[in-house]
Parts: sequence; C-alpha cells; structure tokens
Amino acid sequence: MTTEKRPLKTLERVLSKAGIGSRVEARSWIHAGRVKVNGRVVQNPDQWVDMDRDRVRFDDQPLQQQKRVYLLLYKPKGYLTTYKDPEGRPTVYDLIADVGTFVSPVGRLDLDTSGLLIMTNDNQFAERVTNPQSHVPKTYLVKASTLLTDAQLDQLRDGIELTDGPTRPAGITRLRDSGKYTHFEITLTEGRNRQVRRMVEALDSHVLKLVRVKIGEIAIGTLPIGTWRELTRAEIAGLAG
Ligand code: URA
Repeated sequence: MTTEKRPLKTLERVLSKAGIGSRVEARSWIHAGRVKVNGRVVQNPDQWVDMDRDRVRFDDQPLQQQKRVYLLLYKPKGYLTTYKDPEGRPTVYDLIADVGTFVSPVGRLDLDTSGLLIMTNDNQFAERVTNPQSHVPKTYLVKASTLLTDAQLDQLRDGIELTDGPTRPAGITRLRDSGKYTHFEITLTEGRNRQVRRMVEALDSHVLKLVRVKIGEIAIGTLPIGTWRELTRAEIAGLAG
C-alpha cells in the first residue's frame, strides 16, 4: 500500500516561501483579507494549503507569477541581517528598499561583518547555496588582534575543535603582519554561526575586522559598499550547480 504524501503547508508559509514577504507580514496580510484560496478569502494564517490542488491568490494575483530575483548586496558593518530589529537598528532591508520584491538573505553576516550577501526570493536556490553539503566556498579577509604564528594559521587550515564540532579544512593565506596584527584570508566551505570569529578566538586572539569578499566565484569587484546589483545569469548558474 502506498501512502499519498501531499505538499501541505500553512497559508502563512506558502506566502513567505513564495517570496511575497516575511512571515510576520504574511500573517498581517492574511488577517487583512488580501489572500484568497480557491476564490474565497481566508483570514487564518495557520490554515493548511495543498500546493498541488489549491489556488492561492494575493491581491488577486496568482503566487506563481512572482519573478525570481537574485541580488548581491555589499553589506556595511552595523547593519543586521534580519528583517526588523526590536531595538530599531539598521537592517539590510534599509539598503534594498528600492528593490520592490521581498527577498531573503542567503545565510547571514554578523552585525560587525561587512561584505557580500546574496538575497533572493528563490528558496530552492538559497537552500542549495547554504546547504553545507554543497561546499560553496566563501572567502573572508580577517584582521586578527594579535600576530599569528605559522603554526596557528596551520591550525585554522587543518581544522579547529569548536563547541559544535571540528571545522573542515580551510584555505588560509597570510596577507601581511602590521605592527601587532595579522591580516589573512580564509576560505570556508561551511557556514556555521560566527564561525570565523570562533575559530580565531580558539587561538586566543580575536577578530578586529571581517569582510566577506567572495561567494563561490562572485567577488565584490567594483560594487560600492552599501549598494546592490543583480546577479548575472552566469553567476546564478555557477552557484546553483
Ligand atoms: N564568520 C563569522 O564569524 N561572522 C560572519 O559574519 C561570517 C562568518
């Protein structure tokens, strides 16, 4: 006997996954009566929807017609990678207000990290890029608070024991030592929370500056800080593998 598996999701999730808005926004739009399922307004965000059978419309537009959008943002430090901050601090959404489509960040950068952040409404693409099995390399420039020895850089290169397990081998290049600081480049194929900072802290040093300069083959190039551009087709294909 086969059990039929239907693609059931809550209405709130269907809307946010379609790239229409955040989950909080989706709930408020559903409550406001802007969403129809099979021609009838549904105001319960937790209602189950069968994506194979049910027809969902937002402001009388079918969800499927959302254009896929892929952005590359050069995030400055001091901006949160979240939609809204209860403390009112700036977020990456302040920098992409002119995009006109709701996009979600592909992974995260810490408040104090600057550099490349991809944002998209294509959830499959986002999952592919963030999945550790995909091994998409991400490269960071790091300024450490101490001079690091070759042996310490080897530790970063070979893998370091963190509280959530050993890190995978990393690409490490010493760039320069200036006064009391070592500047180096690190390429990771996993994206754990605060990973670079925690790796450097495991060497009894800490990160003074962190910039993500490359995702896969995509580099900052001439993109000015605080601005965004669309990814090219080749860049999207390169990451989507
Ligand atoms: N590693 C970190 O520690 N922080 C980031 O923002 C990205 C990678």
